[in-house]
Amino acid sequence: MNKTIDIQALIDSKNGQVTPSIYTDPEIYELELERIFGRCWLFLAHESQIPKAGDFFNTYMGEDPIVVVRQKDGTVKAFLNQCRHRSMRVSYADSGNTKAFTCPYHGWSYATNGELIEVPLEPRAYPQGLCKSKWGLQEVTKVASYKGLIFGTWDENAVSLEEYMGDMAWYLDGVLDRREGGTEIVGGIHKWTIDCNWKFAAEQFASDQYHALFSHASAVQVLGAKPEDEQKALGSGQTPRPVWETAKDAIQFGQDGHGSGFFFTDKPDANVWVDGEVSDYYRETYPEALERLGEIRALRLAGHNTLFPTLSWLNGTATLRVWHPRGPNQVEVWAFCITDKNAPEEVKAAFERSATRAFGPAGFLEQDDSENWVEIQKILRGYRARNSQLCMEMGMGNEKIRDDGVPGITNYIFSETAARGFYQHWANLLSSKTWQEAKAKTDAYQNTLVENSKEVA
Ligand code: FES
Ligand SMILES: [Fe+2]
Repeated sequence: MNKTIDIQALIDSKNGQVTPSIYTDPEIYELELERIFGRCWLFLAHESQIPKAGDFFNTYMGEDPIVVVRQKDGTVKAFLNQCRHRSMRVSYADSGNTKAFTCPYHGWSYATNGELIEVPLEPRAYPQGLCKSKWGLQEVTKVASYKGLIFGTWDENAVSLEEYMGDMAWYLDGVLDRREGGTEIVGGIHKWTIDCNWKFAAEQFASDQYHALFSHASAVQVLGAKPEDEQKALGSGQTPRPVWETAKDAIQFGQDGHGSGFFFTDKPDANVWVDGEVSDYYRETYPEALERLGEIRALRLAGHNTLFPTLSWLNGTATLRVWHPRGPNQVEVWAFCITDKNAPEEVKAAFERSATRAFGPAGFLEQDDSENWVEIQKILRGYRARNSQLCMEMGMGNEKIRDDGVPGITNYIFSETAARGFYQHWANLLSSKTWQEAKAKTDAYQNTLVENSKEVA
């Protein structure tokens, strides 16, 4: 790593400025693989994808291929999907069930607990003896689950998953804990690439409701169209008042690199992106959600979220996605449809349809977003563009600590508290040798925000 890069100089969260070379610089990208993806808790799989012993699911931590496997004793382990002989992938299928992983190159076999169990021609090829216990698959240092979501980290000094999530768990519970029985993944996973840096996607889902007004204007107009009688009552050519004008309140949350945004609504109707069956389902299950989550979260049927660094989801729309980095100029999106396990099958199918329609690879909202990111990445090929400061000042100094149960550092939904926090935490991780050092820097930044924040009822 070229030690001349001063990461902290590229992020000025106190004054709300960012230098966009952070989205293009190959050396910064290398450092991200080491210090972000090599250190943070990263989403691996949902428990429902690997229910039985021997079930496996292939994914990535950063660019490292990872196979997640259900063990005989019911626990979950994750391994680097790399043969210890010549680095070949040992597990190929996206997912499945197996007794062993056999490398297709020279045939070394590994048990589902990672042990090297079989080496072809072993006695003749290794007359001196081969210590097989030394050459098992490399195991992901820590694996932990939170309400069905399985995460892993390579950092033995990382804080616990719960501590890592912090107040963000409250927001995630709105999806994971609506109903008895928890959630499951429905159908397959959409996977596609976008020619942009991973941070555009992760930051937008953490912090950017602002773009929806403009980037999604046409979709909002089409989806907001009312049945004839309601339209008559409104007057011809009139559209209903948008949610940001009618909502009782609107909040952005940003802390420890995580971020979220949502409006307070007053009835349990799903947001405009989803099918009628999905809306009906939310109305029918509202009493249960109310009991489990309280009113604010039971009514929170729209909202954007990122758990730092790369797990994002949208309430109501049922899309949960991971942004796998693929070099500084590309991201591979993996989009899962997540629903309540106890939802009827036809409702699950409706969730899957609506998630695909809005946020699948050809989804009408997804397209609006990626169009922006791809164009920005092209612009940043320019030397001057890459080194010009970007404005990230929205809502600066207006942070609030609430006393209505919405936890953490918050702001009005149209602000960039979460974006500033995302990049500050990112810079702290890149410029620190240990997790603890990075966290101390992030805490210091946040303590200032808290001290200066306004209490609101
Ligand atoms: S690379 Fe796997 S057995 Fe040779
Ligand atoms: Fe969007």
